[in-house]
Amino acid sequence: MQGTAIARPNIALIKYWGKRDTKRNLPAVGSISITLRELFTRMAVEFDASLGADTLTVNGTPDNAMLPRLASCLDRIAGPDRHRAHIASDCNFPIAAGLASSASAFAAITVAAAAAAGKELERDSLASLAGQASGSAARSLFGGFVELKNMDDDIRCATILDAADWPLSVIVAITETGPKAVGSTEAMEISRRTSPFYSTWIQQQEQDLATARSAIAERDFEKLAAVTEHNCLKMHSIMWASRPPLVYWNAATMRCLETVRQLQGQSLGVFFTIDAGPQVKAVCLPEHSDAVANALRATAGVTDLMVTGLGDGAKLETDA
Ligand code: DP6
Repeated sequence: MQGTAIARPNIALIKYWGKRDTKRNLPAVGSISITLRELFTRMAVEFDASLGADTLTVNGTPDNAMLPRLASCLDRIAGPDRHRAHIASDCNFPIAAGLASSASAFAAITVAAAAAAGKELERDSLASLAGQASGSAARSLFGGFVELKNMDDDIRCATILDAADWPLSVIVAITETGPKAVGSTEAMEISRRTSPFYSTWIQQQEQDLATARSAIAERDFEKLAAVTEHNCLKMHSIMWASRPPLVYWNAATMRCLETVRQLQGQSLGVFFTIDAGPQVKAVCLPEHSDAVANALRATAGVTDLMVTGLGDGAKLETDA
């Protein structure tokens, strides 16, 4: 009746922003991401017949903030009549600050809960279940470069290139660690309903996905850089033009973009992407990783830095 799994966050190069079905949490667009190696969430789930309610600890401290979404995830996997569960979550990076902590959390709990419930599910089914909890979590079931495709009635994720086949580095420049003002789920709906750019975003996504797919297949760094930065800025343009406006950046976010532009001017292989938070993720060639990290560390307003390679999909640590 217990299972423990570890999952890593992923960072989208071609972003998911907007839903076509909010009830089943189906994304409006496909996306392409990279799974990170050094950051992780570990989730331990234990169903216990004697418990009256689910419990959650985060890094050893009782914390109920994420409990309703985690409990729904357990209901989907083990059924609503399941025993209540002890959930213990451990995470080695800041939560809820645009660092994809929900992706690794929901990927990990899906794998852990399936094991605890004695269900042997294919990775595809696990991805679909994780995606119902949080769209980006589906991608964390897989390692390396991952594409999430919209199917008729569901999603389908797959690794399109293994991490070892193009071992890029990622430097996360932390500019703020507090929780974000508006969560992605709510922000996406505000964008869909109010942003004048939303429909263009949906129309153009296939083109960006195709460009990124071929850039990855050809290991063409310049091509991947151009389409990733374009797709990121397009997503943030939708947010900025929403009502109320959704601005996740701070002054240091902007300064990090200037740093990346300067490094590109010196012919370093680096590009940026930013999610629903103020952190800047710089993707770079491994040989330029130290120079990029040093330049971002020296950028005013950067309070911390994380350096990582690309890693594997979610894994079970113990069996039920
Ligand atoms: C900007 O997966 O957090 O990081 O499905 O509502 O939980 P929900 O949204 P979530 O959104 C991720 C948005 C993004 C882009 C991306 O990861 O593709």
